Amino acid sequence: MIADINETRGNATAEAISRQTGARVIAVECDVADAQSVRTMVQAAKAQLGSADVLVNNAGIAVFREPLEMTPEDWRRCLSVDLEGAWNCAKAVLPDMLARRDGAIINIISNHAFTVIKHTFPYPVAKHALLGLTRSLGLEYADRGIAVNAISPGYTDTQIAQDDFNRHPDPVAARAATEAKQPPGRLCRPDEVAAVAALLASNEARFMIGENIVIDGGVSIRMYE
Ligand SMILES: NC(=O)c1ccc[n+]([C@@H]2O[C@H](COP(=O)([O-])OP(=O)(O)OC[C@H]3O[C@@H](n4cnc5c(N)ncnc54)[C@H](O)[C@@H]3O)[C@@H](O)[C@H]2O)c1
Repeated sequence: MIADINETRGNATAEAISRQTGARVIAVECDVADAQSVRTMVQAAKAQLGSADVLVNNAGIAVFREPLEMTPEDWRRCLSVDLEGAWNCAKAVLPDMLARRDGAIINIISNHAFTVIKHTFPYPVAKHALLGLTRSLGLEYADRGIAVNAISPGYTDTQIAQDDFNRHPDPVAARAATEAKQPPGRLCRPDEVAAVAALLASNEARFMIGENIVIDGGVSIRMYE
């Protein structure tokens, strides 16, 4: 099941996965920041596909503000989607996972979970906290068959990245400059993140608890140039 606040994008993603894999994929409109919307989505998933074996918390927004100029609404929106959204979804699927003593929860964080770029406040606040949520829930339920882990991608070639480049006067030059800053000379591909999510979803990874796998092309291990 694909749950997205943007119905058009959710449907397109579901159709693409279905086309590529032959699997039955359902898209549902859902705002992860709204606990009731999440409960409705999880009930729909259960009714149509059975209870969740794996939850991937991927929904996220980038809110970058000067701290003292930021409105309370910006702060609330960032924290409610990037942090509380993952908790809302985990809370909704955990009872069934715990009843079966089996489940994997995978939080898509960012290398902003442990490093910070100036002028990106409060996104790293939410992402640092999401790592805390991953570790807390990981330890809490490790002895009840649940594996909670995280993936921290670096700059990834998705819509959010393209939107960012499009804000520059020369989007092609902006993309090239960002690519040049990555040690491999390119952005991360979404399928490279998905491959690690597939590993964390598998039974083979169940001894991994509260882990954060970084896929950032080495950006966060570089001291400076
Ligand atoms: N692209 C990057 O460079 C990058 C790097 C590190 C981490 N991330 C993280 O990866 C995740 C996916 O980002 P992306 O790059 O694919 O961004 P994206 O904007 O392309 O996709 C994010 C998706 O989340 C959905 N969404 C937003 N708010 C929502 C809400 N309240 N409820 C439900 N769905 C909602 C959007 O409609 C969109 O389909 C995010 O958590 C992001 O912070 C992205």
